[in-house]
Amino acid sequence: MTMIWDGQTFPEFKQNCSSLLSRYLSKDLFNNLKNKKTLHGFTLFQAINSGVVNQDSHIGVYAGDAESYDLFSPLLNPIIDEYHGFSLASTHTSDFNSSAPSVPNPDPNGQYILSTRIRVGRNIDGMPLGPAINRDQRIEVESRIARTLDSLSGDLSGTYFPLLGMDEIVQNRLISDHFLFKNGDRFLEAVGLNRDWPEGRGIFHNQQKTFLVWVNEEDQLRIISMQKGGDISAVFNRLIRAVKKLEETLPFLFHSRLGYLSSCPTNLGTAMRASVHIQLLKLGSKKSEFEDIADRYSLQIRGIHGEHSESEGGVFDVSNRKRLGITEIEAIRDLYDGVVALIKKEATL
Ligand code: ADP
Ligand code: ARG
Repeated sequence: MTMIWDGQTFPEFKQNCSSLLSRYLSKDLFNNLKNKKTLHGFTLFQAINSGVVNQDSHIGVYAGDAESYDLFSPLLNPIIDEYHGFSLASTHTSDFNSSAPSVPNPDPNGQYILSTRIRVGRNIDGMPLGPAINRDQRIEVESRIARTLDSLSGDLSGTYFPLLGMDEIVQNRLISDHFLFKNGDRFLEAVGLNRDWPEGRGIFHNQQKTFLVWVNEEDQLRIISMQKGGDISAVFNRLIRAVKKLEETLPFLFHSRLGYLSSCPTNLGTAMRASVHIQLLKLGSKKSEFEDIADRYSLQIRGIHGEHSESEGGVFDVSNRKRLGITEIEAIRDLYDGVVALIKKEATL
């Protein structure tokens, strides 16, 4: 799948490549943008290399810093618009700080939902995003985050475990138990997000592993709340509490129009992915019916080990697909309504 590209000439996209990059990058656009560089030195070549060398990308582009979203907007805006259904004239609004909605458990008898997880991506204001960050800046980001995490108390208090020097068995266990990110993602590799790996990366978690923070993976912070079962409100409330606490110390990068900024355009706005691990033994094998319901409720279906993984034992990771142009509460609603519809359908089969 991986190919070599010199970055100077208009990239070749294969016939079966259907990424948003391949659809929106015209020769004119390429020529207009190819010599532009942000103040942090991020170029068009870096923004699109992942989608050029990984032709099975769905999106294919990343940003290196806040300025990338303006400098490369002729390419990024239509991609953002199509992914989130977010019109260029719109402005993202966040209601993360209002009180959480009380969403009932969509599976009160615990028949289908194994666990619920909600995460948000965040990056530090004043720093480039991961694709353009340098080694010293990354280490500085890690120590600022670790210091802040260290000051948490009550059920949010826990321990930061750097990836550097982590026992391989412990690391693999955290990954297979769905707590930690994997190594060596080829999409991140091609945008330079894996430079200096594993230095500067790590995971924080409380004792129960219901509150976790990934440090310096695709985003500088992935703030995660998760627990067994389908109590979406409990998971969301814990996340809100944690994020509010962290932002007392850490200034998060926020764009007046695009909301919270992330290195990947799919994670703008709320930067929130609310998911359930749900067992759909019957509907799961009826691909088109399953996908129809997912599309109707703007849900994304992933495998049991997250993105780019397969389902096992009829268990799927189902989450909100849109993150920008909707509020956090609307994203939770998308998940809730969609999961209710999936369970209803499963029960009739
Ligand atoms: P992200 O959620 O940050 O976009 P991934 O799709 O790679 O990234 O998922 C990260 C990890 O979280 C994976 O191990 C995945 O299985 C796990 N995960 C996602 N949703 C749930 C859930 N509802 N319950 C338990 N684990 C989950
Ligand atoms: N760059 C990859 C693609 O275009 C992943 C996009 C979304 N996922 C993510 N982890 N940001 O398919």
